[in-house]
Amino acid sequence: MNNPLELSVVVPTLNESENLPVLIAKLEEALKGVEWEVIFVDDDSDDDTAELARQIGTTNRRVRCLHRIGRRGLSGACIEGMLASPAPYLAVMDADLQHDETLLPKMLDVLRAGDADVVIGSRYMEGGGFGEWAESRKSISRFATSLGRLVMKNNVSDPMSGFFMLRKEAFHQSVRKLSGIGFKILLDILASSQRGLRIKELPFEFRTRIAGESKLDSMVAWEYVMMLLDKLIGHLVPIRFVLFSVVGLFGLGVHLAVLGIVHKGLGVEFALSQGIATMVAMTNNFVLNNIFTYRDKRLHGLSFLLGLLSFFAVCGVGAIANIGIAAYVYGVDESWWVAGVTGALVGAVWNYAVSSVYTWRKPKKA
Ligand code: GDD
Ligand code: MN
Repeated sequence: MNNPLELSVVVPTLNESENLPVLIAKLEEALKGVEWEVIFVDDDSDDDTAELARQIGTTNRRVRCLHRIGRRGLSGACIEGMLASPAPYLAVMDADLQHDETLLPKMLDVLRAGDADVVIGSRYMEGGGFGEWAESRKSISRFATSLGRLVMKNNVSDPMSGFFMLRKEAFHQSVRKLSGIGFKILLDILASSQRGLRIKELPFEFRTRIAGESKLDSMVAWEYVMMLLDKLIGHLVPIRFVLFSVVGLFGLGVHLAVLGIVHKGLGVEFALSQGIATMVAMTNNFVLNNIFTYRDKRLHGLSFLLGLLSFFAVCGVGAIANIGIAAYVYGVDESWWVAGVTGALVGAVWNYAVSSVYTWRKPKKA
């Protein structure tokens, strides 16, 4: 390869070994006459995708592998793959053959002609499509796409597409502003880039995955919602704190319900009833926060139990702080509800801040 490299195709992979050789063959076919390479960015797949890519790379110099250990995330993988490339044009596509590789030379032509900085493979425009997607997934995607339009001003038909090509400069201009979380790498780039980014879309038909399985689960959807909320109100108050507080309010309802049942209903003495209600409410809050607020750091098995214990400890101290502050404010102000609200607020901030460090400290293991 004496001619300068023109295009790097960055392909994030997680357990895609079955698809790898097929994809490489398809790229060879589609990119005849182009100086290209493919960079697989693998997050330590169990099926040894990375090792397979390295093996193929010994005889096929177009194939490279970036092997990340102890890391997870589609966006981050794409960003690092693009950073590893010296090519003037960068493409991102999935490994599972759902993206139509024959679109790559057309995308490249648009960039070469200098008419655009980013070319997006769109499933939404005339001539594009979703293949055999179930109606339910289509409507989820449509809904997510319209939500996405809330946070970005560009008029793009498919900002959630995982298939696009851009100029190296356009990427490097925005790379430091990218959040790199979740899977919406294109949306991230579009939302973080300077005005005046020239965007063009080309239609393509999303194919059906044949080997391996999709990694976009409920966690990814939840991350997406959190990201949108964060872009909308995150500058006012951390979005996790909002969730934590909503869970807390719900927990208060649980507490009162249990207290009513145990004390009034079963006739258990008040102090014991209050203790039982507190334990139930704390457990309830822990479980809900573990599902929603900290979905990305969700605890399972033994860590779930240890997390619950540490949450009890944190909330115990929070309760003492709550009562102490409330008593102090009551002494100064004598307004019972100002004192009560202040105490509860300080307790909530304490619980939130400390549990985020001690209870849900580790990111979800790969
Ligand atoms: N390195 C790395 N790390 N790769 C990942 C990870 C990760 O955490 N999660 C997924 N991948 C890889 C997969 O191996 C695949 O090559 C590609 O990223 C897309 O993942 P899929 O699991 O196949 O996603 P999908 O088909 O459900 O979603 C596609 O459509 C979405 C829009 O509807 C993707 O193209 C998304 O990017 C796109 O937003
Ligand atoms: Mn896929």
